[in-house]
Amino acid sequence: MQNDIRAEAAQYYDVNPTIPDDIAFYQARLPSSDAAVLELGCGTGRVLLPLAVSCGFMYGLDRSQAMLARCLQKLQAAAIPPSKARAEHGDITHFALGQRFALIIAPYRVFQLLETEAQVVGLFQCVHTHLAPGGTCRRRAPQVQ
Ligand SMILES: C[S@@+](CC[C@H](N)C(=O)[O-])C[C@H]1O[C@@H](n2cnc3c(N)ncnc32)[C@H](O)[C@@H]1O
Repeated sequence: MQNDIRAEAAQYYDVNPTIPDDIAFYQARLPSSDAAVLELGCGTGRVLLPLAVSCGFMYGLDRSQAMLARCLQKLQAAAIPPSKARAEHGDITHFALGQRFALIIAPYRVFQLLETEAQVVGLFQCVHTHLAPGGTCRRRAPQVQ
């Protein structure tokens, strides 16, 4: 986990009291119960796991091995098989999964972590090439406290 800036944060991420109550927002946007959904920056699987129960297939991408390790532990503990959900190491600004998705989401401050115009352009190019016809890309706008 060399250079993983979230190595420590991953241990406490799921008990952070500032995490938003946004699962229902994403569940309500699932196009169907058999839809394939891609989560950009899936982290510990906070959103990925509950959505995996309600859709056909969840695919998560994240660059933090520590966050991914938590996500994979939770998938295993919940007995959610790889045919239903998987989470892999990857850069959300530069990826090619060879698969298209009915819904692509980026919950909770993922977009804000992009630092350069090239990263923003890369993310939207990847979203474009991975969306199924008629598919949508959503993130809940930050809520004003
Ligand atoms: C605030 S967390 C959100 C995690 C999850 N979506 C949630 O709602 O709980 C942001 C996540 O985005 C990931 N991330 C940020 N930039 C990334 C990039 N370029 N490629 C892959 N993952 C990235 C981080 O590693 C981190 O796990």
